[in-house]
Amino acid sequence: MPKLTIAIDGPAGSGKSSVARQIAGVLGYTYLDSGAMYRALALKTLQRKIAIDDHGALEKLATDTHIELKPATAEQEKAGAKNRVFLDRTEVTDAIRTAEVAQTASRLATIAGVRHVLVAEQQRAGAGGGVVMEGRDIGTVVFPNAELKIFLEASPEVRAERRWKEHQEKGDDMTVFEVLGEVRERDKRDRERKVSPLVRAPDAVIVDNTAMDVEETARLIVMLAREREKELAAAARKSV
Ligand code: CDP
Ligand code: CDP
Repeated sequence: MPKLTIAIDGPAGSGKSSVARQIAGVLGYTYLDSGAMYRALALKTLQRKIAIDDHGALEKLATDTHIELKPATAEQEKAGAKNRVFLDRTEVTDAIRTAEVAQTASRLATIAGVRHVLVAEQQRAGAGGGVVMEGRDIGTVVFPNAELKIFLEASPEVRAERRWKEHQEKGDDMTVFEVLGEVRERDKRDRERKVSPLVRAPDAVIVDNTAMDVEETARLIVMLAREREKELAAAARKSV
């Protein structure tokens, strides 16, 4: 069977990472979390105390930074991590999952020069197919020719509650209202920014999983992927 490029985009807490990770496991594909790259760069920005409006310094930082994604260990997966993330060869898998890093990531993500560097990295990492990549602009900018595009949706309240539960499990004492505020603020910025806003690609399938769990959502997308694999195999047979 031909190997597809699967693009999954959607707002915070819509289930992109959990669902993409599961789909990649079933199909034997590589899972890539593009948001983790924005988060890793955000962590470095905070560590270096670089002002978020210093676009020149941030573009240079992006160029000078090495970010690597690797499959999570079984233990890390149990704790909720989907990808291991390395920033300049130091593991930052847990350190990037704070609300402060998420907010800084979404501010960095409005800067065209920063996106340019990270998009090129993502295209390199996903070249060759057999990948499930998730983020905000995968189906529109990173892989506009992806054979399967999914736009994952869920109500803001459900998405915030999912995220809040994760914070609770880690011992972060944010209230569900604070998490809802954080998620809404980031969604607004992501949807309204000038460069590569969060928007559904015209050929993306909308999957609203407000009332679906991770398994059901992944099963549905795996079914769509198998259909696409078959269609592509049939088209390839016809052309020989
Ligand atoms: O990557 P994204 O921010 O879109 O979402 P996620 O990190 O995959 O999911 C956030 C949380 O919601 C995780 O703890 C998932 O297990 C949970 N989730 C869920 O309960 N039901 C779904 N249909 C999707 C995600
Ligand atoms: O896990 P969650 O959905 O909360 O966020 P994430 O996927 O880790 O992404 C963090 C931030 O990075 C987002 O709020 C976006 O601003 C940015 N991002 C982006 O602009 N483009 C992507 N392809 C992925 C993430």
